[in-house]
Amino acid sequence: MDDGMTRREAPTQLRPLIVGAGGLVGRRLSDHFENRHPHTVSATRAELDVTDRWRIESELERLEPNLVINAAAIADVDRCEREPDLAHRVNAEGPAHLAAACRNAGVRLIHLSTDYVFDGQKGDEYDESDAPHPINVYGQSKLLGEMAVLETLVDAVVLRVSFLFGVGRKTFLDRLIGQAHRQSGPIEVVDSWVNKPTSTTEIARLVERIAGEDMTGLWHLANPPALSKAEFARQLLTLIGENPGRVVPVPPHTLELDARRPPATSLSTAQLEARLGEEMKDWLACAREYLGMDA
Ligand SMILES: NC(=O)c1ccc[n+]([C@@H]2O[C@H](COP(=O)([O-])OP(=O)(O)OC[C@H]3O[C@@H](n4cnc5c(N)ncnc54)[C@H](OP(=O)(O)O)[C@@H]3O)[C@@H](O)[C@H]2O)c1
Repeated sequence: MDDGMTRREAPTQLRPLIVGAGGLVGRRLSDHFENRHPHTVSATRAELDVTDRWRIESELERLEPNLVINAAAIADVDRCEREPDLAHRVNAEGPAHLAAACRNAGVRLIHLSTDYVFDGQKGDEYDESDAPHPINVYGQSKLLGEMAVLETLVDAVVLRVSFLFGVGRKTFLDRLIGQAHRQSGPIEVVDSWVNKPTSTTEIARLVERIAGEDMTGLWHLANPPALSKAEFARQLLTLIGENPGRVVPVPPHTLELDARRPPATSLSTAQLEARLGEEMKDWLACAREYLGMDA
């Protein structure tokens, strides 16, 4: 019947499957999407192992999601160096299996990656067109994962993020604040490793925005400004009313780490900001929120 009115299609209900839902980003994504989209399914490693290709295929068939968000990873950079086979299976082959299964099932995939695909030698912010050149096993395995996703699935989104903080598991931010409260005196922090911190709350919010847009390909997401770990520590101590002078910068070679770190991997978010029409929130504002200081 033509009643002369413009009919609008009912919006497709989002049915996201969140993979790696037990981790830092995964938990935040689960909370965010479960609160807004009743058909969200969250799968921890025990529930869906990304190294099990056949299980992924059968779960996509059974659950019928229309979006898969992959937050599963071996994100411990030093562990990847010690266990390169595991890093490769989870960070490179896992996303490849997910992408193949998503392609077969006609499902969209948003996959998380890292600034550590870069070597940190550019001397400027990295944008999406910069050639990656990882210097550790973690970065190499994550780069292979990104490439597999983008080659397999034309409408996939790969979202690179960096230096996270948020609810779910303790990060550098929580350990620093804990140390500052527990003891008085100096706190040693690496004087280099420049990048932009990223709030997991912002990741969840922006992943939902991206899911609602016709976006594909590679994107950078992080909260400005870029700063070294030591400067991050100073600003955080100031924020919680502690003396920033307690931070004693130390060069990275004084730490006994299994993996090398790229020195400066700030992600330019200009493309994402232009596409979404919003500026990335300052990391300090995100940290205030995370610490409940705005309540
Ligand atoms: N953390 C950072 O600062 C940072 C920086 C840049 C980019 N990223 C990227 O952000 C994403 C999320 O990282 P995150 O910090 O949330 O990591 P995370 O806290 O370590 O969480 C990763 C999750 O993946 C799960 N997992 C491991 N192997 C799996 C498998 N075979 N199958 C399914 N799940 C598996 C882990 O389960 P178990 O705990 O049970 O092992 C864990 O729950 C990753 O892509 C990471 O590369 C993180």
